[in-house]
Amino acid sequence: MGGSCAQRRPARRPQVLFPFLLPLFYRALCEPIRYSIPEELAEGSVVGNLAKDLGLGVLEVSARKLRVSAEKLLFKVDAESGDLLVKDRIDREQICKERRICELQLEAVVENPLNIFHIIVVVEDINDHAPQFDKKEILLEIFESISPGVRISLDPATDPDINMNSVKDYRINPNPYFSLMVRVNSDGGKYPELSLVKSLDREEQRSHRLILTAMDGGDPPRSATVRIEIFVKDTNDNSPVFSKEEYRVSVSENLPPGSSILQVTATDQDEGINAEINYYFRSTAQSTRHVFSLDEKTGMVKNTRPLDFEDTERHTMEVEAKDGGGLSTQCKVIIEILDENDNNPEIIITSLSDEISEDSHPGMVVALFKTRDPDFGGNGEVTCNIERDIPFKISSSSTNYYKLVTDGVLDREHTPEYNVTITATDKGKPPLSSSITITLHITDVNDNAPVFQQSAYLVHVPENNPPGASIAQVSASDSDLGPNGHVSYSIVASDLEPRALSSYVSVSAQSGVVFAQRAFDHEQLRAFELTLQARDQGSPALSANVSLRVLVGDRNDNAPRVLYPTLGPDGSALFDTVPRAAPPAAAGGCFGSVLCSKSGPEIPPNYSEGTLPYSYNLCVAHTGKTEFNFLKCSEPLHSTQDIVCGDSPGALIPLQGGSNLTSHPETLTLVSFVFVSSVIVY
Ligand SMILES: *[C@@H]1O[C@H](CO)[C@@H](O)[C@H](O)[C@H]1NC(C)=O
Repeated sequence: MGGSCAQRRPARRPQVLFPFLLPLFYRALCEPIRYSIPEELAEGSVVGNLAKDLGLGVLEVSARKLRVSAEKLLFKVDAESGDLLVKDRIDREQICKERRICELQLEAVVENPLNIFHIIVVVEDINDHAPQFDKKEILLEIFESISPGVRISLDPATDPDINMNSVKDYRINPNPYFSLMVRVNSDGGKYPELSLVKSLDREEQRSHRLILTAMDGGDPPRSATVRIEIFVKDTNDNSPVFSKEEYRVSVSENLPPGSSILQVTATDQDEGINAEINYYFRSTAQSTRHVFSLDEKTGMVKNTRPLDFEDTERHTMEVEAKDGGGLSTQCKVIIEILDENDNNPEIIITSLSDEISEDSHPGMVVALFKTRDPDFGGNGEVTCNIERDIPFKISSSSTNYYKLVTDGVLDREHTPEYNVTITATDKGKPPLSSSITITLHITDVNDNAPVFQQSAYLVHVPENNPPGASIAQVSASDSDLGPNGHVSYSIVASDLEPRALSSYVSVSAQSGVVFAQRAFDHEQLRAFELTLQARDQGSPALSANVSLRVLVGDRNDNAPRVLYPTLGPDGSALFDTVPRAAPPAAAGGCFGSVLCSKSGPEIPPNYSEGTLPYSYNLCVAHTGKTEFNFLKCSEPLHSTQDIVCGDSPGALIPLQGGSNLTSHPETLTLVSFVFVSSVIVY
């Protein structure tokens, strides 16, 4: 519309409302009228005097109905002044987004005549936005092994403002590890980049916090901050470290198998698998590995078997700790075994003479022995004892070596063998002991002579005995052993004619039985005496003698006589007189009130006076099983009557068949004593 352009005339310089309002009036009228305003002007703010710029008078504004039109009406015309006013909020960032130039086009319309003018309102940016980061926090992971100089790009901040009002710079807080560089990308945007200036060490500092600040170039500038958290990722740059270089422990040897003994512990400053530690035995003797176990995960050392101080006093082992990244360290483990008194002392007989002669002198060595106790100290210190009251003692020859010696008189006949118990006791707490019994046999020495059972023997042999009859037996014993105790008998003396002896008697060497070699004749030989010897077969031999008196009895060719015993002062029966008042004939050959026999033999005539020239004591003797009663002559005999009482007082006159007599003299008075016809009176 050229007409409209023609209406345009140069206008005076309009009232300057804003310094940035462009003077547009020199341009050709057909050119659009341009205004420039900052965004976000308050409603009602004057953009420019449109009427004036269109060359309209004040009255024409309403008369010609000056107005503006647009898709969206952000402006209006003041009907009185013709000013173009801001009608609505103008947000450059909303209207123009990120466009660098933000222009709003609108038309001014007048009527009478109708005319249209183009208007361009340039919306200038103001710094009404601060930079902004997408996230509140930036999380980064960086391996500790990364070298200085490495760069890490960070997300930039955004700022919807443009140009100077947009993001202009970045900063981080001062720190020793990172610096910040600001880079410009191809579209001119700026972004921050971290640069590592110093090596990281996760073990020293596992994370770093930085504050990143983005600033725009506004005046005043606006800024935004974001936290950067940098996690340092582990690399296996640390070996395990044991809590001790050397572990040392002492345990009792009777610790049961399966006991926990000690735990090795290693730590690794790395993390994750780099800090996962396993434990292994290294350069450790097989013998030790057999006894101990090591838990790979926990480092616990246990004994798998019984420990034995006597076997090994100390175990040494190397333990390795290895992390999951293959770094390892070693430590030393020393396990000392403490002795317990767990061994009984042992007695070892090294030499033993189990046969000891009974004539050994005190001090003779009968056994050598030693003791052994592998325990330590007092637990292995041993003393030895034997029972008391035996003729032996222990003498110590040197440490743990002993002698058993005789310590007294030995007598085989009294104690033929000894069981000697040797007891060895250690000094443990409690002590342990063991014992051993040895049997010592005492061997015989011919130290006992034979001993006759009687101090003297007396036998009575009736005359006219058959030749070869045994008339007596002597017996001797010998407590020695074997030949030393084997006795033989012989006749060594007699009161017979030496050359005639063997024709009268003999003795059996073995049995001691004495035999008559001929029939004795009372008229020729009334008594004789032999000396018998018992002799053992020791070397030298020992012997003993005994006398055997043989009385040869007269045959009873006279009638028996009756005697009245009376009681003597000592209770013995006396036969000193025969009472004359006694009626022997009437008694019919018996007397006394107890025993009486009318049919007994007659009293011989030569005893009719009833006198006896002797006095007797009645006594009783026992020899072996046979009981003899004797009349003992109390006075010398004067007569050669039929009663032979020997030559001296004290001679014994045995009475055969006296076994029904009691041995108590006092009761003898109650029984009558009778010589019956079968009694032979010597
Ligand atoms: C010695 O011991 C043996 C075997 O135990 C036994 O037969 C014997 O009777 C004992 N001797 C003594 C004198 O105790």
